[in-house]
Amino acid sequence: MEKLIGLKKIKTAVFISGTGSNFKNLIKFSKIKKTPITIDLVISNTNKAKGLRYASQFNIEKKIFNFQNIKISEKNILKLLKKRNIKFICLAGFMRILSYSFIKKFNGKIINIHPSLLPKYKGLNTHQRAITNKEKFAGCTIHYVTAKLDSGKIILQKKIRIAPNDTSASLAKKILKEEHNLYPAAIMKIF
Ligand code: GRF
Repeated sequence: MEKLIGLKKIKTAVFISGTGSNFKNLIKFSKIKKTPITIDLVISNTNKAKGLRYASQFNIEKKIFNFQNIKISEKNILKLLKKRNIKFICLAGFMRILSYSFIKKFNGKIINIHPSLLPKYKGLNTHQRAITNKEKFAGCTIHYVTAKLDSGKIILQKKIRIAPNDTSASLAKKILKEEHNLYPAAIMKIF
């Protein structure tokens, strides 16, 4: 991963599909002095993503690509990323799988947050699956994005104990709080 050169910050795009609490948290992180990134663009596959409101609130450019035709959407996204000189992509609750050819063009420069202790529980419903399997621990992981779902190299991970009375909702809440610490920490680790 390229190092931060001088005081120049790395132009970053965040991809979201939902609530956007991680997006909001990354915006906050991009405003502190020691941050290596600026957030210049948010991309969503749906205009229903609640998190898009943070784009208006913080004056960040937002763009919707519906991914009905993945090839066309990705081609247009790449064009825009180039135009805006984006060098780094943070996926934060983005519910579309990016193609191998897209990932290759941004090789090693796309990271994702996943709400499990990878390599365990790739995919969806991670908290419920961990509870059903009587796991003692759950957590979240920041990893590089490769063409294989939730399988790229791990950057950072946070583990928490599952309480006996935890439900998937209570666990999700606890882990989301940890996600908000972990994402900035992972970015600091990379740059
Ligand atoms: C988070 O739990 C993240 O780990 C997962 O999707 C959720 C997104 O939450 N990939 P938010 O939209 O950032 O609030």
